[in-house]
Amino acid sequence: MVIAADGSAASGKTTGAKLISKKYSLQFLSSGLLYRYASYQLLKYKPKNAIFFLKKCFNNLNLKKLNNKNLHSPEISVHTSIVAKDQKIRNILKAFQKNFSKKYNKVCIEGRDIGTVILPNADIKFFFKCNLDVAARRRFKELRKTNKHINFADVKKAMRIRDNSDKKRKNSPLIQAKNAVIVQTDKLKNIKGMLNKMSKIIEEKIKEKYGS
Ligand code: C5P
Repeated sequence: MVIAADGSAASGKTTGAKLISKKYSLQFLSSGLLYRYASYQLLKYKPKNAIFFLKKCFNNLNLKKLNNKNLHSPEISVHTSIVAKDQKIRNILKAFQKNFSKKYNKVCIEGRDIGTVILPNADIKFFFKCNLDVAARRRFKELRKTNKHINFADVKKAMRIRDNSDKKRKNSPLIQAKNAVIVQTDKLKNIKGMLNKMSKIIEEKIKEKYGS
């Protein structure tokens, strides 16, 4: 079972993808974290040859190490969406994601181009949508935990700019794959409602694929 989950910032894709990964024993990967890590490394080491440097970084990348870093600061978010426009950088991360899905076989990857570029033959493609105001409130609540001075209007503005950049860029823009199932998270009552909707689709697929 291979599942792709795409969507804009704070649309609920990470929460949804993590829940179904746990429920159906799929290996979970947040591809956004990979882009954030690339940005973090470039800002920290300022290498002369970014591509050579990143190739090395991703050859030695340990996923546990990745989860321990704070890669969600507003500075990294802004820089990440710039880094993500570069096709050579995307190719390095694409290879990493392809290896990941080959290695584990039962996977769920979330991001922006998973259903369209990384896993075009995924069994199920979810596409998460959420009204910007609701999404910004979610992100604001998260960021407030570590930064009491953060301002809601700034968070919302930064998210609008980042989403637009992700949708309009030339390379692997955020678009809904043809056969994707939409999960409109601002219309769902709660997280349980989201999990139920996703589970129903996965179980139909399991029946179709394995007959039980
Ligand atoms: O999902 P997250 O918000 O952590 O992603 C951070 C940024 O990484 C996105 O705004 C986007 O620019 C980039 N990204 C991407 N392709 C992906 C995942 C993330 O371009 N598959």
